[in-house]
Amino acid sequence: MDKKYLILTYGCQMNVHESEKLAGILEDNGYSVCDNAVDADIVVLNTCAIRENAEQKIFGNIGELKNIKLAKPEMIIAVGGCMSQQKNYASEIVKKFPFVDIVFGTHNLADFERLLKTRIKTGKRIAETTEDETIALRDNLNISRTSGVNAWVNIMYGCNNFCTYCIVPYVRGREVSRPEKDILREVERLLKEGYKQITLLGQNVNSYAGVDENGNKVSFAKLLKDVDGFDGKYRVRFMTSHPRDLSSEAIDVIASSKHICHGIHLPVQSGSNNMLKVMNRHYDISRYNSVVDEIKAKIPDAELTTDIIVGFPGETDQDFEDTISVMKRTEYLQIFGFIYSKRKGTPAEKMVDPVDMKTKKERLNRLLEVKNEIIDRKSAEMLGKTYEVLVESYDAKNDILYGSLDSGKTITFKGNKACVGEFVDVKVTNVKKSVLVGEIVSDTSAFVEKNFKTPIEVSILPKDQKSLKILRDNKKTAKDANDKKSKK
Ligand code: SAH
Ligand code: SF4
Ligand code: F3S
Repeated sequence: MDKKYLILTYGCQMNVHESEKLAGILEDNGYSVCDNAVDADIVVLNTCAIRENAEQKIFGNIGELKNIKLAKPEMIIAVGGCMSQQKNYASEIVKKFPFVDIVFGTHNLADFERLLKTRIKTGKRIAETTEDETIALRDNLNISRTSGVNAWVNIMYGCNNFCTYCIVPYVRGREVSRPEKDILREVERLLKEGYKQITLLGQNVNSYAGVDENGNKVSFAKLLKDVDGFDGKYRVRFMTSHPRDLSSEAIDVIASSKHICHGIHLPVQSGSNNMLKVMNRHYDISRYNSVVDEIKAKIPDAELTTDIIVGFPGETDQDFEDTISVMKRTEYLQIFGFIYSKRKGTPAEKMVDPVDMKTKKERLNRLLEVKNEIIDRKSAEMLGKTYEVLVESYDAKNDILYGSLDSGKTITFKGNKACVGEFVDVKVTNVKKSVLVGEIVSDTSAFVEKNFKTPIEVSILPKDQKSLKILRDNKKTAKDANDKKSKK
C-alpha cells in the first residue's frame, strides 16, 4: 500500500522551503502527502526556536502525537529544524519523548534519507546533528514545491550578526553563500517551469558574498541585477534585508529593474539608539532613516514593512516612544511586532530585565494600535486606484481569487480560476480596515488553467469523525493489550 507522509512546519519562510526539500526526499522514497497524523506512516516536525511560544507549541504537538503512536506503533516520528539544532536539545528530545524515532538538525537536512533508511533497517532510534555548515550546499535535492505561483530560492545560509536576542546564528551557523551560477540556473529553470514569483531567501541577504563562474566575487546588488535579466513576465522578492548592509548599489538596481518588487522588508527592531546598541544591530536610527529616505527618493512607489521587538531588557518608556516615532516616520505597509522572548545561550539571556510583562504587553498593544492607524490609513488611500496584481490562488469554497500587489499587499476579487498565475489589473473597490477588495479591469478571456501545486492544510488530528473513531478504538485495543501485559 501507498506510504503516507505528514510534515508540520513551524517558523519562517526558510523552514517552509526546507519542508519542500523534506517532502522531495520523502516522495523520492515512495511516500505521498496526507493531511493528518492518523493517516500518516511518517510525521516530520520541521521546528522553529525563535521565541518561547514557538517551542511550547511544538512540544505540545509532539505530546499530542504520542496518543496516535500508541494506536499506530509502526508510525515514524521525526523532529528536525532549528529547535533540534539547539545545544543539548537533540538528546533532551530523545529523553523526554521516547516515542520520537529520529531527531536531526538544520545542517543535516540533506542526510534525512540516510537517517530514515537507517531507522527502518535497524529499528533503532536516531539523534544526529552536526555543526558542518557546508552540507547545506549539497543542493541537488529534488524539491517538491507546493507554494503555488511562488518559488523560494536559497541564496545563502546562516547568519554572522549575533543580534543579542536572537537564536538564529546558533542554530543556522555562519553565513555561507551559494555560488551565483547555481542560483541563476535554478531561477532560470523555475521561470521555464512557469513560476511567477521568485523569492530569494537568506537571514541577511544583503551580505550575500558569492562567486561567479570565473571565481570573481558577486555582491547582492550584482546578483539582483543578474536575477532580473531573464525574459518574460515575473517578479523577484528577497528577504531579509539588514539596514546596515542594504547598499546604495542594491537600491539602484531595484530602482532600474524590470522584475524586482518595490516592497522591501527592512526590520528596524527598535527606534531607540540605546536599544539598537544593546541589541548589537550595528546601526543607529539616523543610518536607518537615511536608508529609508534613499529608498523612497530613488523608488517613489516603494513600500516598506518591518519587524519590531518590544520589551527588550532595559527598554524605557522613552525608548519605546522612539520606536513609535520611527513607525510613524517610515509609514510602513505592514509591521510585525513581538514581545522579547529570552533565548537560551544568547547574550541577552544574562541581561538585567527590570521591565515587567504587564508593561511589555501594554507596549505591544500600543504598537498594534499605532500600526493599525498607519496601515488602515494607507489602505484607505488605495481605494479607487488600479494596481497590477499577480493572481496567486483560487478559493473554491468562497469562489474568490487572491492576488498580491507589487508591494506584497494582498487583495481579493472575483474571477475565473484560469487567472491564477497571470498578471491582471485590479481596481480597489472596497477597503475594510486594511483589507482590500477589488475587481479585475483587464481582459482575462485568453487565460487557460495552469497546474500549480498549492499547500494543503494539515493538522495532527483528522477532520472527519470516522478516522477519529478508528484511532480511539485502536488506542483502546493497544491500552487493553498493555494492561494485560503488565498484569501478567
Ligand atoms: N534574519 C531576519 C529574521 C530573523 S527572525 C532578520 O534579521 O530580520 C524574525 C524576527 O523575529 C526578527 O526580525 C525579530 O524581530 C524577531 N525575533 C528574533 N528573536 C527574537 C526574540 N528572542 N524575541 C522576540 N522576537 C524575536
Ligand atoms: Fe537574528 Fe540578527 Fe541574524 Fe536576523 S540578523 S537572523 S535578527 S542575528
Ligand atoms: Fe525559526 Fe529557524 Fe526560521 S528559529 S524563524 S525557523 S531560522
